[in-house]
Amino acid sequence: MSKRSSVSRRRVLAAAMVAPAIVVAAKGPANTATAGGKVAIITGASRGIGAATALRLARDGFAVAVNYRGGAAGAESVVREIRAAGGRGLAVQADVTSAAAVSRMFDVSEKEFGGVDVVVSNAGVMHLAPIRDMSDADFERVMAVNLKGSFFVLREAARRVREHGRIIALSSSITQLRSPTYGPYAATKAAQEILVNVLAKELAGRMISVNAVAPGVTNTPLFTDGKTPQQIAGFADRTPHQRLGEPADIADVIALLCSADGEWINGQTVFANGGLI
Ligand SMILES: NC(=O)c1ccc[n+]([C@@H]2O[C@H](COP(=O)([O-])OP(=O)(O)OC[C@H]3O[C@@H](n4cnc5c(N)ncnc54)[C@H](OP(=O)(O)O)[C@@H]3O)[C@@H](O)[C@H]2O)c1
Repeated sequence: MSKRSSVSRRRVLAAAMVAPAIVVAAKGPANTATAGGKVAIITGASRGIGAATALRLARDGFAVAVNYRGGAAGAESVVREIRAAGGRGLAVQADVTSAAAVSRMFDVSEKEFGGVDVVVSNAGVMHLAPIRDMSDADFERVMAVNLKGSFFVLREAARRVREHGRIIALSSSITQLRSPTYGPYAATKAAQEILVNVLAKELAGRMISVNAVAPGVTNTPLFTDGKTPQQIAGFADRTPHQRLGEPADIADVIALLCSADGEWINGQTVFANGGLI
């Protein structure tokens, strides 16, 4: 070790010995118990994983903007539940395929709550078909919501999230499974893993951690619609825990990344699938 590095190492050790509380206080945005004053925007939070995440982050102390496209009733119900538990929530309509709508969603959230600390780009759709059979319309829809829409959300988050914030995009374990019929959908999810990794580096110096969370089969309409009970049971049997994931399982992992303890996880894809892959 050079003399210079040994001096700087001694300084770091000395600082750590006299001021451990300061080191801890510099972490953010929240401790697991409370995120007092912090604000989260969750896209696609009218149901499923987004709704569970909104409820969980509200429980952790975040004021939560509950985004929806068409599911106003679902979003309002999530907000009612947040408020009934003493939290702060607001339903915000925005179609993520519109950059202007995404920008307005951030404006509304900042005006209501004073800023943005956490953004979860969760809104997504799934259209399945063998590549040779997929229609132009289905291909374009999945790209528009999952890739372009998430890009608009991540771009706005990169501009507005405050220091020590978190940005999370929903990927999927299908990026590893690569099953037939999932091609375009899986491609949009793999793109999330690239985008968060690049964005984490681009935000250097702002202490914002940017990650993807990749659920496995999770019990929401996106997964269950169009499948027979036998097909669903077959997927459940393939996980070592022999059940589907529940939205709350994924919300718990997102909450960990949003807690002070999650800061050092940055630029990664966290697979949350009960051991499916
Ligand atoms: N469920 C799974 O097995 C699974 C596995 C891996 C990854 N994921 C990912 O997890 C995320 C959430 O999935 P989920 O299972 O909770 O799905 P879900 O139950 O179908 O919910 C999807 C949500 O996205 C919203 N949404 C769709 N298009 C939108 C748009 N253009 N603008 C704004 N919001 C829009 C919907 O809102 P409205 O109802 O208001 O339209 C709804 O709240 C998705 O990105 C999905 O790809 C899910």
